[in-house]
Amino acid sequence: MIPRIDDAEAAARALARAESILVITGAGMSAESGIPTFRGPDGLWEGRSVEDVATPEGFARDPAGVWQWYSDRRRNCLQTEPHAGHVALARLEHGHRAPVTIATQNIDGLHRRAGSGDVIELHGSLFTTRCSKCSHQVPEDRAFYSEPPTCEYCGAPMRPGVVWFGEMLPADRLLRAQALSQECDVVLVVGTSAVVQPVASLPLYARHSGATLVEVNPQETPLTPVCHFAFPHAAGEVLPQLVDRALAMVE
Ligand code: OAD
Repeated sequence: MIPRIDDAEAAARALARAESILVITGAGMSAESGIPTFRGPDGLWEGRSVEDVATPEGFARDPAGVWQWYSDRRRNCLQTEPHAGHVALARLEHGHRAPVTIATQNIDGLHRRAGSGDVIELHGSLFTTRCSKCSHQVPEDRAFYSEPPTCEYCGAPMRPGVVWFGEMLPADRLLRAQALSQECDVVLVVGTSAVVQPVASLPLYARHSGATLVEVNPQETPLTPVCHFAFPHAAGEVLPQLVDRALAMVE
């Protein structure tokens, strides 16, 4: 199948008619807010050992170094603002009669700050903290650490509340996203290279269940050939226009 490129009218119609919409976002969604993506030149993983900062083993080796890295990312994220694309997705949720859920791989909190209410943070959040040993979690933590804080219950080091390589995604969140991918009518996939599992498979489940797939990404991805519509441009450019058109058609 060849996706229809830049057919905003037809993609907006599919969104307007949908009874349930799932939006899947990745790092490219936040690029225009000034947060670097992971892959490619100047990406967060470029020249950096993922094993050092994004695995439980890396944290066990150097908890202070890992906390320093995440504290820097907290600081960077707090200095950024959601852009017009984030705001458009919040408008879609609040202006459409159908439920609109965002399943994001991003840990930056920008969707909620833009006003989206139904956000599944599949890879956790930069602004939560949990114990590396017991199940204690701190749901909102905006402090900057150069030494790991300790768990108030068991005394073990607290760690960032994000998913690291080799770890399972939170089961309840993944199950909800998988269920939605099989029930929804439209999946809007924005700013992900679609190479990291299990999120990369969600649009495929949706496609198999009959959903219309719409991709917004300046680069082609492994998903592009199975999409019905592709917009090879930036999220902040495409989403406001697409959402305006869709909301104008919602009855
Ligand atoms: P990537 O860095 O792999 O991909 C970012 C995608 O965004 C690329 O396909 C870009 O073409 C696209 N992009 C860049 N600018 C854009 C813009 N303005 N508008 C729309 N798209 C744009 O990021 P993810 O796919 O999110 O996991 O990566 C998935 C996971 O891999 C991350 O959550 C992280 C990483 O390792 C963990 O840390 C567990």
